[in-house]
Amino acid sequence: MGQVVPLPTPEPAAEERPVLVLDLGGQYSQLIARRVRECRVYSELVHHSITPEAVRARNPLALVLSGGPASVYAEGAPRIDPRIFELGVPTLGICYGMQLMAQNLGGRVERTGVSEFGKTDVTAEEGELFTNLPSEQVAWMSHRDSVTAPPKGARVVASSPSTPIAAFEDPDRGLYGVQFHPEVVHTPYGNDLLKNFLYTVADAPPTWTAAAVIEEQVERIGAQVGSERVLCALSGGVDSAVAALLVYKAIGDQLTCVFVDHGLLRKEEATQVVETFGNHFHVPLVHVDAEERFMARLEGITDPEDKRRAIGEEFIRVFEEESRTLGTIRYLVQGTLYSDVIESGGSGDGVAATIKSHHNVGGLPEEMDLELVEPLRMLFKDEVRRVGEELGLPERMVWRQPFPGPGLAIRIIGEVTEERLEILREADSILQEEIRRAGLYRDLWQSFAVLPAIRSVGVQGDERTYAYPIVIRAVTSEDAMTADWARLPYDLLETISSRIINEIPAVNRVALDISSKPPSTIEWE
Ligand code: XMP
Repeated sequence: MGQVVPLPTPEPAAEERPVLVLDLGGQYSQLIARRVRECRVYSELVHHSITPEAVRARNPLALVLSGGPASVYAEGAPRIDPRIFELGVPTLGICYGMQLMAQNLGGRVERTGVSEFGKTDVTAEEGELFTNLPSEQVAWMSHRDSVTAPPKGARVVASSPSTPIAAFEDPDRGLYGVQFHPEVVHTPYGNDLLKNFLYTVADAPPTWTAAAVIEEQVERIGAQVGSERVLCALSGGVDSAVAALLVYKAIGDQLTCVFVDHGLLRKEEATQVVETFGNHFHVPLVHVDAEERFMARLEGITDPEDKRRAIGEEFIRVFEEESRTLGTIRYLVQGTLYSDVIESGGSGDGVAATIKSHHNVGGLPEEMDLELVEPLRMLFKDEVRRVGEELGLPERMVWRQPFPGPGLAIRIIGEVTEERLEILREADSILQEEIRRAGLYRDLWQSFAVLPAIRSVGVQGDERTYAYPIVIRAVTSEDAMTADWARLPYDLLETISSRIINEIPAVNRVALDISSKPPSTIEWE
């Protein structure tokens, strides 16, 4: 009899074998998950209270314990169930996570009176974490407590002048700890260390690519919706665009996209949506030109929140009207991102954080009774962009800066009129063009023009003018929670200013907004 050859088991989907980052309250927890994913290994953030059973059920390739602000001995300090260390899953503790390992595994943590903050010289020994890395390197530290005895059986593999135990490892038990933060850019070899941990220690294959994400999501969407019909509201932004394309790839014409053009987009943006989706990708697209309706609704409204409310309500009304004409639809696509999921504590495992108010115009009514399809739920913004590129979405759409749902209406101070909208749209278009030409578009979180509700005196061609100013607002930011005003080159500012004043008769002055957030906000309204 011949040998029985077992059937090859199919490669598990990336999400079936994640790297779990146990969030111990550190400010960089999310960043760790992102860094792991940048190494092309799928990673998820979970609450530190996760049980060993729940960890085992996820069949993780590795665990990472994040940093945290507490002292391991403090009352109420976040802890993890120590049985997690016995699961045989390779585990890397970072900062507080490392200290927690030491405390639980027979080592010692003390407040020695020595604290390290910022860039610190570290001497590394040969070991798995530091394979092929220089023995002398710089690492970013941020700690008051120190590990003064490593876990039983672990070997110390790095030290700094004031911290004799800056890293330890116990390959037999798969336990690794670093006092510094490999996830921040100030640790130049941090990424390499993470790669050593992931690829060598945890044997995690770098298979989390945009192509893999697409394949996986397409399969999931197909399984979720079957032969039902699906609706998607396109906003012109990258999230809804990528979500729509993923769903379209999965179910083709079962998807209908509705693009409610409220007339408050930037110059040529509406045309681009229609061309890209309707003409290029052939996605069934209902383009609702509702500009007149929105303008009528906005008449006389000057208060920023009233504007938002009016636009939001009108949007929902138009969307509902349109979708009623489309027959029976069961699902609605929503471009929810992983950061939204984490921030709203909705990942199902209770990762706590404040709920950010998402005031997107796409916030749709519950009465419509549609089930959600959320293909971006596990993706960070940069991953959405990579998936968009892979799907062939035009560069302009993939890299579009964030744009508020209420659009230009909240950049026109006071009443939104046709005339003022046109002025702002032109000014904004010049600003965008010049910023792109200067190669700065992607470096800026947002850059736009604002039209205040004042006029000032000027002189043009011997004539006195009394016209609007335009304010240039350009900011750098990581996540819009804080922002700094961008130091745009003077030459660029000069070009923007003279073009706006020369090309738009209703404008005779250009000002630059040099406020940071806080205390200002990014938008003016
Ligand atoms: P602020 O002005 O609060 O903006 O610093 C932070 C980020 O949110 C965007 N933003 C909005 N987005 N609807 C949106 O969809 C809104 O009403 C809205 N208001 C502000 C803003 O562009 C920035 O990226």
